[in-house]
Amino acid sequence: MSAASDEDRAEKLRRQLVGELVSGGVLPSDGWRAAVAEVPRHVFVPTFYRQTPSEQEAVDASSPGEWLEGVYGDQLLVVSPDVKSSSTVPSLMAVMLEALDPADGHRILEIGTGTGYNAALLCHRLGDGNVVSVDIAGGPCRCCERASGRAWVPSSTWRG
Ligand SMILES: C[S@@+](CC[C@H](N)C(=O)[O-])C[C@H]1O[C@@H](n2cnc3c(N)ncnc32)[C@H](O)[C@@H]1O
Repeated sequence: MSAASDEDRAEKLRRQLVGELVSGGVLPSDGWRAAVAEVPRHVFVPTFYRQTPSEQEAVDASSPGEWLEGVYGDQLLVVSPDVKSSSTVPSLMAVMLEALDPADGHRILEIGTGTGYNAALLCHRLGDGNVVSVDIAGGPCRCCERASGRAWVPSSTWRG
């Protein structure tokens, strides 16, 4: 499958996810709906792991259909083979973001960058310059690096 058709497929799956979240009643506001529709979760989750009877099996762009269906399903994604790191279920993220209900111009400090996806949703809503995200895990946030140059990456990230 070509990169272009993967992007088309990702966009279609993102629209489906928005539809599910809206019909589930957890994404009522226009601002968050636009953020989920436009922020590419697959950029922030280049690999996730699923449990097989014998191991944690990596799912990534080498099997694009399965990877994108997983990334845009309403499910928690394990993102490290030791199962210590995950990307939160989108519907739970939606509930938290709607409850946060920020106003334009608010500045946000996110504790726990993880994949950077939730930080990217915050950046979409409030602007990159109004979001700082920190994570206790050492090393650079590779997903934010990977997404660098695109919109919706926090102005500052710090990893302990
Ligand atoms: C479930 S993940 C966060 C999900 C993330 N917001 C996303 O969009 O994928 C939790 C993150 O919080 C970080 N964390 C846990 N305790 C922390 C602390 N006391 N200070 C900063 N980061 C912390 C972990 O290293 C992990 O990356």
